[in-house]
Amino acid sequence: MVKVAILGASGGVGQPLSLLLKLSPYVSELALYDIRAAEGIGRDLSHINTNSNCVGYDKDSIESSLTNAQVVLIPAGVPRKPGLTRDDLFKMNAGIVKSLVTAVGNFAPNARILVISNPVNSLVPIAVETLKKMGKFKPGNVMGVTNLDLVRAETFLVDYLMLKDPKVGQEQDKTTMHKKVTVIGGHSGETIIPIITDKSLVFQLDRQYERFIHRVQFGGDEIVKAKQGAGSATLSMAFAGAKFAEEVLRSFHNEKPETESLSAFVYLPGLKNGKRAQQLVADNSIEYFSLPIVLQNGSIASIDTSILENLSPREEQLVDTAVKELHKNIQKGKSFILDSS
Ligand code: NAD
Ligand code: LMR
Repeated sequence: MVKVAILGASGGVGQPLSLLLKLSPYVSELALYDIRAAEGIGRDLSHINTNSNCVGYDKDSIESSLTNAQVVLIPAGVPRKPGLTRDDLFKMNAGIVKSLVTAVGNFAPNARILVISNPVNSLVPIAVETLKKMGKFKPGNVMGVTNLDLVRAETFLVDYLMLKDPKVGQEQDKTTMHKKVTVIGGHSGETIIPIITDKSLVFQLDRQYERFIHRVQFGGDEIVKAKQGAGSATLSMAFAGAKFAEEVLRSFHNEKPETESLSAFVYLPGLKNGKRAQQLVADNSIEYFSLPIVLQNGSIASIDTSILENLSPREEQLVDTAVKELHKNIQKGKSFILDSS
């Protein structure tokens, strides 16, 4: 059985994520850590009659929350307000993630680390470089959670098909669209690249295709605007994060993934990958990219780069635009660790 720790468990993402993982049959122990309120939230969830134990830890008890944890989710940090980009969160969240990952390196060095906090494109490099510096880095264990982009793509693809032709839209099932679409790249604006793998649907979308791409890329902004200063996506993120964590947990039991083409933002050089991914690294000095992953025993065993082999000219264009921004985001994260003593 698996102990899961959530760092930042009292937040807008952390609380519903904790609830969903308390409901998971794959979790035996759920440790909730935050600098505020986690003890109470843990006690609250501990009354739910699922078979896992749930304990909340106060700000001085991070070691106990992490000891023996095999999976650690990190949604700690400041969310966006209208007018802010994810990159604007860097100055607040970089230090938070660095200190939490240092604690994971010290107290749960074998844990799989799922980074939710933004900007994912820079904070995953911070996590990786922090662990490398500690001599604790295991390439398959660090994953940037980009699954909300896939969840959105599944939803919006059906919405736009419906708009184009209600007859075609009604034939689709939002819960199985991951068989027809995936999302690669990064997790911010134009670094988010939705790829419709069932090309007949691109044809069906017709002029809605560009609107679909734009909505997946900027879906986060839509929520920030609608929440009017009260934060960003929390409930849909908790759903996407719990789904992603469940796939990691299922792989401990050798269970087949439920989601086809589940992607994560990963450090490419450390993982088994295809020729096209190696070319991506070589041509653009890009060390990180979100791509479909193959999980084994909770870790990434390999990444599936086949998606990169069959891109349309429009998709190639999206990749070219994404790598330029990603390059800056990644460097910013790396420098934060490498330039500090
Ligand atoms: P929030 O402000 O509601 O919650 C953040 C929580 O982090 C708070 O409870 C706070 O006390 C805690 N925290 C701060 N510093 C901490 C530390 N050092 N140790 C432990 N806990 C700490 O914010 P939110 O809406 O839950 O969003 C959290 C983060 O998740 C943001 O950075 C947001 O941008 C990001 N996010 C990412 C995605 C994604 O797709 N990857 C989606 C939604 C939100
Ligand atoms: C999202 O995509 O909803 C999150 O990254 C939060 C945000 O800042 O938009």
